[in-house]
Amino acid sequence: MAEREVLIYPDPRLKEIARDVDLVDDYIKQVIQDLIDTMEMSGHSTGIAATQIGEPVRIVVADASKNKKCEDNHGRLVMINPEILKWEGMLQFREGCMSVPDFTGNVNRARKILIRYQDENLESKVIEAEGFEAVLLQHETDHLEGTLFIDRVISKRTDLFRRKKYK
Ligand code: NI
Repeated sequence: MAEREVLIYPDPRLKEIARDVDLVDDYIKQVIQDLIDTMEMSGHSTGIAATQIGEPVRIVVADASKNKKCEDNHGRLVMINPEILKWEGMLQFREGCMSVPDFTGNVNRARKILIRYQDENLESKVIEAEGFEAVLLQHETDHLEGTLFIDRVISKRTDLFRRKKYK
């Protein structure tokens, strides 16, 4: 088990564009395990991207089932080189992020997405995600582009909310 330190905004490494993964070697296996451990040990977190632990490779781990209000989901996903292929509809969601512990914010996201990724054996998969899970996967794949939810918040004046402590 290796819980890693999560980079906090405005750490410039959060702005890095992550590189593709074409081989699952010991380094990549370690990054995946560290992401799982860091997400699990944080308690409430439903997702994390490799960028957030200072490893600029295209890997995200997400688990929408940790949100009890999310009924329809794929459980824990390890996604290598995730790529959103289709966006449908729109919803507004109040997002938070381990890298932005002091704020939550309202963001517009697609209600439904089609996303392609490779699993830990580099096998290609395509799934459809809806609602909370769709928002979560859009948020996590954004991290790989160096984008945070605060970059997408509807209005920095009215849709960004300070909170005391990340939960
Ligand atoms: Ni985040």
